[in-house]
Amino acid sequence: MTEQPIFAAIDLGSTKVCAVLGQALDEDRLEIVGIGTASTQSGIRNGTIVDVQHTVSAIRKAVDMAARKANCQVTRVVVGFAGGEIEGQDQRVMIALKDREVMATDIDRILQEARTMMGCSSSELLHTIPKTYKIDEQGGIVNPIGMVGARLEALVHVVRGSDMVLANLKRSVERAGLTVRDGDLILQPLASARAVLTEDDKELGVCVVDIGGGTTTMVLYQNGALCGVRVIPLGGTAMTKDLAAVMRISQSDAERIKKEVFSLPGTFPATDAPENEASHSSPVLEDPPHSGGRRAQVKEVVEARLEEILTRVKGELERMRQSTYLARGVVLVGGIARMPDIVPFAEKIFDMPVSVGEVGSRVQGLVDQVASPEFASAVGLLYFARDQWAPGEISRRNGFVSEQPQESLKRAVPSSGIRVWKWLKDII
Ligand SMILES: Nc1ncnc2c1ncn2[C@@H]1O[C@H](COP(=O)(O)OP(=O)(O)OP(=O)(O)O)[C@@H](O)[C@H]1O
Ligand SMILES: [Mg+2]
Repeated sequence: MTEQPIFAAIDLGSTKVCAVLGQALDEDRLEIVGIGTASTQSGIRNGTIVDVQHTVSAIRKAVDMAARKANCQVTRVVVGFAGGEIEGQDQRVMIALKDREVMATDIDRILQEARTMMGCSSSELLHTIPKTYKIDEQGGIVNPIGMVGARLEALVHVVRGSDMVLANLKRSVERAGLTVRDGDLILQPLASARAVLTEDDKELGVCVVDIGGGTTTMVLYQNGALCGVRVIPLGGTAMTKDLAAVMRISQSDAERIKKEVFSLPGTFPATDAPENEASHSSPVLEDPPHSGGRRAQVKEVVEARLEEILTRVKGELERMRQSTYLARGVVLVGGIARMPDIVPFAEKIFDMPVSVGEVGSRVQGLVDQVASPEFASAVGLLYFARDQWAPGEISRRNGFVSEQPQESLKRAVPSSGIRVWKWLKDII
């Protein structure tokens, strides 16, 4: 039996880079075969690279760790990120059909037209996602291929980033000895949503909110279609800085204390602690006469910042959802979703149902290591890798990596029409 191909993804976060390797079990299930993390605190701030050297060595470290576990080499990766100015806009496009059948190439044309109309250069383009189609007078079409009519209209969501930010991301990944192709830079909230949402969630209305160290990202789905993405450059690091300032302690002490006070027993992650962090309990909290008071102070400081973040999310959500009811409410992921009482806390602010996102039974293998909500985006990226890669670009076990030369690669890559099909299925 031939060995299943291995897909690779790296999630470039503001506190950690996470490399994951996985194999597709079937249409919707993945097996995680390798995972590695490394601290990016000196290299990435609010999702944007501020030190290439540190970022490159963190990427290398995480990828090596994951590759050792999976016993394979990694060359090509998809990369998740959430830095710089991100803009998502709807664009309406129409093409003439003249009473013939809609073909996959028509979808390509529609997407290309949307990019052109938005004046989007390839260096800033991230995603072109079809939302809904209309043929002549019939609207609400999810998949128009095979249907006939005089004209095809589409509403397309075009997401673009800052070309400088994207160029530096690409450069850092390449300097770490990896290949990232056009279309392989994925906006992180889309990946988080891919990992934790079902088609039902998207149909009923849901907003995924990924609160990480340096960014809070959002993606909204209504009636099965993507309605908007947002990136707020604020996250758990701001809580740590507040604590360090209020308690007059170092940031690494503040980070440790924050996690100690807000950790559920037995769930403290071993993988995401920066190397210089000791694992002992903080003397600041151990001081018996002040212990209770200190903990209350930590909670107060952290929750004040959490409230600020969630209130900003609520404001963005109100602007995006235009008063439509979200039956599935808000799904939280990211490191901050580990905070024990975050669900009731957030429900009070949003005034709608809130839950913590889980990758669930769709993921097997090293599940215990990716089950935590801060790994949702990394797992989601693997689905993007699976959907976008041609067989020749995939790593295999035992050190054998089959990178095909450019020409044969071109033949191996499915037509963009086929990829659009997958996009439609996964995103709409
Ligand atoms: N139990 C916990 N209580 C409070 N905060 C926590 C807990 N566990 C993790 N965090 C915080 O979560 C943040 C890291 O989250 P995550 O790993 O999702 O970020 P990231 O992906 O590196 O960054 P980003 O996505 O913002 O670029 C840190 O601020 C960390 O302190
Ligand atoms: Mg993240």
